[in-house]
Amino acid sequence: MTARAQAPREEAAASRFRGSGGVPEVPGSVVRLIERLERAGYESWTVGGAVRDALRGNAGRAGDWDLATRATPRQVRRLFRRTVPLGIEYGTVGVFGDDGVLHEVTTFRHDVATFGRRAVVAFARTLEEDLARRDFTINAMAWHPLRRELRDPHGGARDLREGVLRAVGDPRERFREDYLRILRGLRFAGAFGLRIEPRTWQGMVEAVPGIARLSRERIRDELLRVLSGPAPSRALELYERSGARAVFLPELTDGLGPAALATVDAVRGKRAEVRMAALLVLGGGVRPAPILSRLRFSRAEAGRIAAAASSGPGPDPVLLANPAARRRWMARTGRRKLRGVFRLWLAALRAGASPSSREAVLGLVAAARRDQRCGVPLSVGELAIAGRDLLALGWSPGPRIGRTLGSLLEAVWEDPALNRRSTLLHLAREGVPDPGPGPARGHRRER
Ligand code: CTP
Repeated sequence: MTARAQAPREEAAASRFRGSGGVPEVPGSVVRLIERLERAGYESWTVGGAVRDALRGNAGRAGDWDLATRATPRQVRRLFRRTVPLGIEYGTVGVFGDDGVLHEVTTFRHDVATFGRRAVVAFARTLEEDLARRDFTINAMAWHPLRRELRDPHGGARDLREGVLRAVGDPRERFREDYLRILRGLRFAGAFGLRIEPRTWQGMVEAVPGIARLSRERIRDELLRVLSGPAPSRALELYERSGARAVFLPELTDGLGPAALATVDAVRGKRAEVRMAALLVLGGGVRPAPILSRLRFSRAEAGRIAAAASSGPGPDPVLLANPAARRRWMARTGRRKLRGVFRLWLAALRAGASPSSREAVLGLVAAARRDQRCGVPLSVGELAIAGRDLLALGWSPGPRIGRTLGSLLEAVWEDPALNRRSTLLHLAREGVPDPGPGPARGHRRER
């Protein structure tokens, strides 16, 4: 911020924020965008999530600052050199600040007709009309960084201070206008620890079936935002209680009970993919693949989530008792994907939700890590010899070579000390027992 004159208005605004975050600190580049618009005669404000977060004392990123203005998109584009038409029909133009960050600049608007998720918007004359069409009071505040004035006609600052999530105006209308607001509201309540005001809650619960009409991508994005937060269980528990979870994840036979919620929270590093895996595994033994593809997770994401979920909430006791079986399982899972499995097991253990004993989980994880550290091969490509070594012995090319390498890998899993060039060549010459088309199949691909 540039130098600030302590106008009386500012002090009044500041005093209102005591107990919440403080006076919003708007990045200088955003202040300069507003100056430019206002000098051209267009009233302009910072609005939405960045104002809310600033009042909560959370600075956020520069790009989170959105502007609402009386200027039409055409007027905005005329005023600034570098703009991007982000959604002209909704009144939104992207404008680059002088720090190179893109900001959404949206003309004051009010809805004229809504169809669940899509709205046909009309431009409004006043900021108040614009704020009245927003979802929750905490998101319906505007801050003017030049006048240092807060416009808060719906009492958002008080709700924030008192820890209340409240829809703007009639909750039923707000949710009918856009069913995504249900999930947004549950996310805000969870993330900020807000109580949901009773009429707002009732409106949400009544509107829950409308979630089925949202695009799956939007639902997935909301879910991922919840799963990336510090304690997803709060929003997830609300998903469960409101009936929202049952709409978009009906497959979970056990639902999101205390064990699932605690495990999701206990995943170290807030890893959303492992948390998603935990949610599926502890929510009731479902096959992840069809769910993940329905929710439009990318193939790569779905692959990692399914891998983390593939070994359940804890290790099979056989793996602990039998090192060769453990290594075979590690090869099947794949080196990189083991991490997700271990993270999930350890989270379930910390959450008191593991079906296995502490010794079993920690013992298996330690043994697997030891194998990895000692370079125990998990594929024929990692053996101390390769097919060309057998060709050099005079073997003719053919399936026998692959089968032999597979058998050597099985032998090394029984006894990793065998993984030395001379030993393996000796074994190959002696003729390792051919395991046939059994478990050694496919080791080649698993790296
Ligand atoms: N908004 C709304 N209804 C929606 C989405 C957004 O009323 N379904 C309004 C709210 O005033 C919101 C603002 O548009 O604050 C900006 O929305 P967005 O950037 O999507 O979210 P934020 O509220 O900024 O918060 P977050 O980024 O944490 O979701």
